[in-house]
Amino acid sequence: MQLLHTITDLRAALNQYRHPAVVPTMGNLHDGHIALVRQAKPLGDVTVATIFVNRLQFAPHEDFDTYPRTLQADCAKLEAAGCDVVFAPNEAELYPQPQTYRVQPPSVLADILEGHFRPGFFGGVCTVVMKLLSCTQARTALFGKKDYQQLMVLRNMVQQFAMPIDVVGGETLRAEDGLALSSRNGYLSAAERHQAVQLSAALKRLAETLREGKTNYVALANQALAELTAQGWRPDYVVVRRRADLQAPQRGDALVVLAAARLGTTRLIDNLEV
Ligand code: PAF
Repeated sequence: MQLLHTITDLRAALNQYRHPAVVPTMGNLHDGHIALVRQAKPLGDVTVATIFVNRLQFAPHEDFDTYPRTLQADCAKLEAAGCDVVFAPNEAELYPQPQTYRVQPPSVLADILEGHFRPGFFGGVCTVVMKLLSCTQARTALFGKKDYQQLMVLRNMVQQFAMPIDVVGGETLRAEDGLALSSRNGYLSAAERHQAVQLSAALKRLAETLREGKTNYVALANQALAELTAQGWRPDYVVVRRRADLQAPQRGDALVVLAAARLGTTRLIDNLEV
């Protein structure tokens, strides 16, 4: 496996390939990322992971400075998973000048849910992903479904810009108790980790109720939110949305339930397709 830090070296290494399959990450890799790399392997003629903690998608009060940077451990995991190339640029390499050209995703999708609570987040994500896909000349790009809205925003970006790239979603990996794997789970204290299962459990109960055919979506979601609050969480949202565009569902739509909530100082997100 090659570990490369510059765009020039990356281009030289990938020159001989026709179909890079790329897994963009911010590092601090867990089994969910590794599953994406394994999923990528048969989808291209070279498997590339990118590791870059992207300042553009963090608000000033968020955890950019403290986000765990674990390049050595990440590379060991990637190599074991059969990754061929790791692209880990520093900020000066990816943003040699201030990144004044930005991708602006549409408000109707990017300013709701995560985008409402993290203004500018999806613009930052789209901008860096556009640049990483350009650097790697990706033909397939893989993103986890745990970041459901992110996957949708990026899929639409690739489609609207007619980028010649297949966007593939990877299933969410969960710990035995149901907690969705996330780099931010590492912030949880032992007691919080024990309690964290309540988020996926609440979504599971909500999804089960919906499967029974109930359609009072807002009331059911608010009930789940109230339960989390009573358990000591500070939820940003618990919602039932239609899968196609994350807008309020009509009867008969395919559904997804999504939640974001803080446990102590850690903000976790999760979702379940119904
Ligand atoms: O999901 C992530 O880790 C990041 O948002 C991504 C897609 C790598 C862009 O920085």
